[in-house]
Amino acid sequence: MTVSSPVAKKRSDYQTPDFLISHVDMVFHLDVVKTRVITTSQITRNGQHDRPLVLDGESIKLVSVALNEDAIHDYSLNDEQLSIQTTESTFTLCVETEINPSENKTLEGLYFSAGAYCTQCEAEGFRKITYFLDRPDVLAKYDVTIFADKERYPHLLSNGNQIGKGQLDDGRHWVKWQDPFNKPSYLFALVAGDFDLLTDNFITQSGRNVLLELYVDKGALDKGHHAIASLKKAMAWDEEVFGLEYDLDIYMVVAVDFFNMGAMENKGLNVFNSKFVLADAQSATDDDFFNIEAVIGHEYFHNWTGNRVTCRDWFQLSLKEGLTVFRDQQFSADMSSPVFNRIKNVQIIREHQFAEDASAMAHPIRPEEVIEMNNFYTVTVYDKGAEVIRMMHTLLGVDGFRKGVDLYFERFDGQAVTCDDFVQAMQDATDIDLTHFRLWYSQSGTPKVTVTDTFEQSSGRYTLTFTQSTPPTADQAQKHALHIPFKFELLDQQGMSISDDSVPELEAKMIELTQAKHEITVSGLSEKPTPSLLLNFSAPVKVDYPYSHQQLSHIILHSSDEFSRWDASQSLYSRCIHSLATAPDSPDEELFDSMLVAVSGMFELADSNPALAAAMLSVPSFETLSQQVDEIQVEALYHAQRSIRNLIATSLSEKWLALYNKQITGPYQYDADDVDKRRLRNLSLSYLVQGDSPQASELLLAQFASADNMTDSLGVLKAAQYGPVDQFDHLMFQFEERWRHDPLVLDKWFALHANMERSDILARLPLLLSHEKFSLDNPNRVRSVLGSFAFYNVLGFHAIDGSGYQFLADYILKLNSVNPQVAARIITPLTQWQKFDPKRQELMRYQLARIADCKTLSKDLIEKVTKSLNYTAH
Ligand code: TRP
Ligand code: ZN
Repeated sequence: MTVSSPVAKKRSDYQTPDFLISHVDMVFHLDVVKTRVITTSQITRNGQHDRPLVLDGESIKLVSVALNEDAIHDYSLNDEQLSIQTTESTFTLCVETEINPSENKTLEGLYFSAGAYCTQCEAEGFRKITYFLDRPDVLAKYDVTIFADKERYPHLLSNGNQIGKGQLDDGRHWVKWQDPFNKPSYLFALVAGDFDLLTDNFITQSGRNVLLELYVDKGALDKGHHAIASLKKAMAWDEEVFGLEYDLDIYMVVAVDFFNMGAMENKGLNVFNSKFVLADAQSATDDDFFNIEAVIGHEYFHNWTGNRVTCRDWFQLSLKEGLTVFRDQQFSADMSSPVFNRIKNVQIIREHQFAEDASAMAHPIRPEEVIEMNNFYTVTVYDKGAEVIRMMHTLLGVDGFRKGVDLYFERFDGQAVTCDDFVQAMQDATDIDLTHFRLWYSQSGTPKVTVTDTFEQSSGRYTLTFTQSTPPTADQAQKHALHIPFKFELLDQQGMSISDDSVPELEAKMIELTQAKHEITVSGLSEKPTPSLLLNFSAPVKVDYPYSHQQLSHIILHSSDEFSRWDASQSLYSRCIHSLATAPDSPDEELFDSMLVAVSGMFELADSNPALAAAMLSVPSFETLSQQVDEIQVEALYHAQRSIRNLIATSLSEKWLALYNKQITGPYQYDADDVDKRRLRNLSLSYLVQGDSPQASELLLAQFASADNMTDSLGVLKAAQYGPVDQFDHLMFQFEERWRHDPLVLDKWFALHANMERSDILARLPLLLSHEKFSLDNPNRVRSVLGSFAFYNVLGFHAIDGSGYQFLADYILKLNSVNPQVAARIITPLTQWQKFDPKRQELMRYQLARIADCKTLSKDLIEKVTKSLNYTAH
């Protein structure tokens, strides 16, 4: 079936704006259903032409238009644009619009979140507030005046500095804000509400005092301290590592309950999903604390990489997102364990980005064609984008990279630029030729590097051959060889890294692959070495080398790169799991034994390197395993993974118990040592339950009763997912009793229910959705139930009768008319049908076709559904 789709915008069609806006004055009269916005813009014609002024606008009511203070009526207006014909080259345009924030469930533009007004303008939400040149290359200075009822909305916030305020007789008050920096409309923000306010301050390296303000729901003040502390760490880190200082006298962060994404970097006024702000020991896990620090960092770092230098057009999104994700990853690594952070980053690439490449939504980090921009805030643009920046960091070195970034700011501060501009600055600052490297921006797909080797005993000559190829993707048939910084080392039988100064690649531990095939030869070796490949995941590629399991064990023990030790452990587990999945009746005992020997050795790392130990003792996720096969055999793969975990659990049960008992922590503190201990404790607990250990139930109950923190409470519930359903249900019941007042904790409870492996899962889901605390209007609730189910409940979602797919599709259709952006995100698992068996492919496509039939489908869903249905494998 072929479905027609709305027209796409193409990167190659970029045109400079016909008009520029230097200054915007906005006045908001806030009202729950009838907010009035008066926008006065100073506009100039850009170049010699007589084209009309065409402004973007969507879902708003136009009240009036005045040009140089004269009302005009001869404009033309449709659902998306307001066109004004004028011969003026410099003029003032005053547009009055009316909006209904309480009806706005899309959470884009101006909306109401739990009693507070807030805005979300990236990418194209400003046009839901007023008619405007809503594109990132139109930069203006903004003055914003907000009028609202004083009692209900004591705090009225916008970007920049407060420059005036006053009181009216009718109970309203007003505040005026001025942002001294030029900015694109997507960075505009307004918030009005009644909050608790936490304040602090930061002295910059040049000695300026910056006021820090954190606005949270009433009563949540105690949960704001970690976010504020994280912000101060991020500010200090950016000064130290990049020499970048904050540029306004005030930095505000507001936490809201209804939010489509993680957070938003609006100039001077970040708006956050409350999930990435609020935390205390009782209600937040170590992972929550970690994520808050990372997201606070991410949004703060955007002030330079995104706000001071912004994107010319949305195809360049990775310019700010890839770079800012790289920066937040480096920040997190510096704040805690570098290897653990690297592992997390790589898991996201392998679980989700590789899956995106293999699907109909495949796109380069700089997309060529877009129907709905909201669909391109993807793991490819963000996380693969960060890997591309990281490769430049590797190629240029720490100092070279810093020189490049310095030049980038020197050249482009205050401008809207392209990914090419960034790469050019990196090249010009270092004289390192990045011409070929640029292909990473335009070529989609996951490259595969195949490595083979030969060893000649008589001469001691060892030859390594690297061959790269990228399979065709849905969007692009032809692929070229890329410039890949490929780190590696050779280990001798003692586990020492071999060096030989006549082989520069070996000395550098890196070969720069630029062609389809490369070869290097090392002479004078007395025995065949073991290559340890793609150290630290130096490029976002798949590697294929015919390792023996002895070699993998050797790398696990000896690689000089901790990441590679972990990676080898994952390869060993993967091999066991795939071997069992393909031949469940003839298990490869020798392979399993050598895996168990390796695992038992990992326990010894628990004291010296607990973060690495915990990661090495965890087997690859179903999602990672799925990307290692051509066709996913759902049940076989799932049960094989489960069996291997059970084998590790039962064969080493005493070690698990000993490890569990050793992880002693005092009262809760979010500190690296304790985090590692809790991680090992909860991992052990989960293996003890999986191995059906006689102590399991007792330990679960004891930990549940004594835990003084959410990490250990949740650790119990996660482990209990592997035990008897009644026990799980019982613990979950108690947990709900205790936490039903706290929506962010309840989200964890919803998610645990939704991804629980149980035969009656499809009967349970409707109960969750009718829970009094569930609402389709709130993205956090939707993600915790529908998202968890579709992304992670393997057996439930992929039930062979198609009921899981149908369930998701039913709710996608409901969500379509509420919040298209969130609907288009959670449909992702359904669009990735290509890797499943023919029967499931048919069932998944059937549901996609059902969705496609909807007459009022949003652009967001049309783009993803039609691409997926029209997909043909190359
Ligand atoms: N720029 C935001 C970030 O990376 C992403 C974001 C927040 C966003 N809210 C959004 C993107 C809404 C699209 C729509 O932190
Ligand atoms: Zn971002």
